[in-house]
Amino acid sequence: MAGNWKMFKTPAQTKDFFAAFLPLVAESKHCEIAICPPFVNIAAAVDAAKGSRVGVGAQNLYWKNEGAFTGEISGPMIKASGAEWVIIGHSERRQFFGETDATVLERTKAALAAGLKPIVCVGEMLAEREANQTDAVLTTQFNGGIAALSPEEFAQIVIAYEPVWAIGTGKVATPDMAADAHRTIRGLVNAKYGADAASKVRILYGGSVKPDNVKGLMAQPEIDGALVGGASLEAASFASIVNF
Ligand code: 13P
Repeated sequence: MAGNWKMFKTPAQTKDFFAAFLPLVAESKHCEIAICPPFVNIAAAVDAAKGSRVGVGAQNLYWKNEGAFTGEISGPMIKASGAEWVIIGHSERRQFFGETDATVLERTKAALAAGLKPIVCVGEMLAEREANQTDAVLTTQFNGGIAALSPEEFAQIVIAYEPVWAIGTGKVATPDMAADAHRTIRGLVNAKYGADAASKVRILYGGSVKPDNVKGLMAQPEIDGALVGGASLEAASFASIVNF
């Protein structure tokens, strides 16, 4: 269960969140938990999460380790700051910041090389779903952004299916719709990496996950967890999602 805070919260607000959140998930041993704050809050989050089961992640990284790349942050920097996870290829990065399947692949390889655990995002836009292109889009994103990983690399990634039309809109995919897309993705994994990899890979659903719809989503065997935006910003709400 991962929270993507997007561009929200300051270091002080991060500290307050963890103070409220950790007691609520102290007994939650059924899943891994991660919070992905903005870069500038990673240190505060790592410090606040110390001794707990909650991991910290970044929301992006650049694929070079260091250099004259003003404004960028590298995998080794994120790792050294104490984060374990990194979200890659979020649809907001694809839509607003020119991310492509090719750069998703570069970032994923760089994250793995730095010892980070990538959460690689895929998902279709509304027009693509309405044109019955969902499977084609997922196939293109998988082939371009993931399928060049070696089997050893692939074994370390988590995939997040986030239909763009469900993000921040309150329009959650029905559990059946989400499960269908997860089945498509698992089929692609099966074709490329084999049945064992397909059964092991964790596929998270993201898009308007809330305390009142998480249970129905998680009842689908295809859905292994959630990547939560808005509802991860408040401790009680994200805790109730974790504890579905
Ligand atoms: P919301 O939960 O706010 O719809 O955001 C989903 C998301 O983009 C998580 O990465």
